[in-house]
Amino acid sequence: MSTAKKEYKRITIKTLVDMKKKGEKISMLTAYDYTMAKIVDGSGIDVILVGDSASNVMAGHETTLPITLDQMIYHASSVIRAIDRSLVVVDLPFGSYQSDPKEALRSAIRIMKESGAHAVKMEGGKEIKESIKRILNAGIPVMGHLGLTPQSIYKFGTYTVRAKEEQEAAQLVEDALLLEKTGCFAIVMEKIPAKLAQSIAEKLTIPVIGIGAGSGVDGQVLVTHDMIGMTHEFNPRFLRRYLDLYSEMTKAFSQYSTDVKRGDFPNESEQY
Ligand code: KIV
Repeated sequence: MSTAKKEYKRITIKTLVDMKKKGEKISMLTAYDYTMAKIVDGSGIDVILVGDSASNVMAGHETTLPITLDQMIYHASSVIRAIDRSLVVVDLPFGSYQSDPKEALRSAIRIMKESGAHAVKMEGGKEIKESIKRILNAGIPVMGHLGLTPQSIYKFGTYTVRAKEEQEAAQLVEDALLLEKTGCFAIVMEKIPAKLAQSIAEKLTIPVIGIGAGSGVDGQVLVTHDMIGMTHEFNPRFLRRYLDLYSEMTKAFSQYSTDVKRGDFPNESEQY
């Protein structure tokens, strides 16, 4: 159990900003369903992200682009039913906020109203400033997402580290400052050089949560299915696997199949 779990009954956006002030690191993991969210929440994880990575992990799509707003709401409401303590942030999916601020607000309202989530996350910097403002004006907290933004994968062309060049790094710093000024309560920084991420975290008063952004930021996020080794094809350098569930589950399933086929399951004590 983390120290944070003892200290904070329920995580709010204010808790996260206070944690940054105190130099306390923030833990964040993804969940897309009730059972997983129950375990993640019960483990003392501060923030649960209902990420659009559900598009990859749950639906098997190659990118995050196909997942719809209705599908995100379905995942988010399953997660919300499991929560006692964690703050639940939900990704606005691709196509639900990029066209104009009114549509962005409508999408964010649907997420909050239909799922009961606590905040939304949006990818991008200055190009989505007006949409962020509009959502914030409606009282909906917004988490930013900069660096490698998977919804723009076809613009980038690859999943390699972002902002290695000076010009892109300068743009990233500018966007981070702008997101803070606009009113975002935290920013996810994905796959950028550790030194750059640390310097941004030091410039901002809101928490920077990293994924592949080194240890000098205010918290870390991973995709749960990757960190518990349920997935095994995806092996980026930033990923620490805490379990090898792919192997463990494969063993269990094949043992079950063998037992069924041999007539060893169910045994005497497993029947009525
Ligand atoms: O969708 C997601 O899981 C994310 C994390 C990788 C930050 O955005």
